[in-house]
Amino acid sequence: MVHLSSAWLLGGPLGLLLLVPVLMAPTPSSLCTPLKTLNDSLSHRRRYMKHNFPINYTVRVHSEEIFKLSNIRRMRVNRTGLDELTLQRLWFQVNQGILKKLIRVMPDRHPSRRYTAELETRFRDAEGVFVQSHPPEIFQQELPDSVQDIWDRLTEEPDKVPEPSWRYATPKSLMDNFCHTMHCLFSECFATEEQHDYCGASHWRKGRKRKLKPES
Ligand SMILES: *[C@@H]1O[C@H](CO)[C@@H](O)[C@H](O)[C@H]1NC(C)=O
Ligand SMILES: *[C@@H]1O[C@H](CO)[C@@H](O)[C@H](O)[C@H]1NC(C)=O
Ligand SMILES: *[C@@H]1O[C@H](CO)[C@@H](O)[C@H](O)[C@H]1NC(C)=O
Repeated sequence: MVHLSSAWLLGGPLGLLLLVPVLMAPTPSSLCTPLKTLNDSLSHRRRYMKHNFPINYTVRVHSEEIFKLSNIRRMRVNRTGLDELTLQRLWFQVNQGILKKLIRVMPDRHPSRRYTAELETRFRDAEGVFVQSHPPEIFQQELPDSVQDIWDRLTEEPDKVPEPSWRYATPKSLMDNFCHTMHCLFSECFATEEQHDYCGASHWRKGRKRKLKPES
């Protein structure tokens, strides 16, 4: 199978460098069904996460919750010993917090409330399958220090976080990151015959004019 060979190639440092852009964790195929359902929901994000909000409306998030393709790229290059599963766990942790924050700012009758609650349900379904499809020991392993630091900041009591550490982001931009990083980290579920590089920012800019500048 495909992932066996990429796991084997991981052995050598050279292989690691060359393979970084296409490196994949063996995503269990059972996880693809809930992730595709999530992808379907996310296709309506412009309507529910932009049009139903005031212009430039932002929510306060941890800086680590601005989790973009560029963060994943940087972490893959920079952090030795970081495996895909760890990044996937981080993805679940980050987006769980984001969905919670979004729901919290919506009154019960907000026109995006039901959409967001459903998104969260679908997200939890995917998380359940993710956890079940790996042996429990994997989730007890220590995280690399750098990831543990991120994790600790994500789960810090909000009133212990100093004001300058917060970031403000629009719901739509958070959902864009959610969607793009999902395709990148679980690319086996989304790959088509053409083998897109979902982790490259250029893939997501296709609809737009040109590459303006590298994503920061
Ligand atoms: C994910 O959603 C997009 C629409 O946002 C759609 O074009 C694409 O086909 C979907 N991918 C899968 C694998 O369902
Ligand atoms: C929204 O933000 C953009 C970019 O920061 C700014 O140019 C625009 O004037 C803002 N619009 C409103 C209505 O505040
Ligand atoms: C590696 O990480 C450090 C600190 O997190 C950062 O300053 C540096 O720019 C990163 N290097 C690359 C190549 O991204």
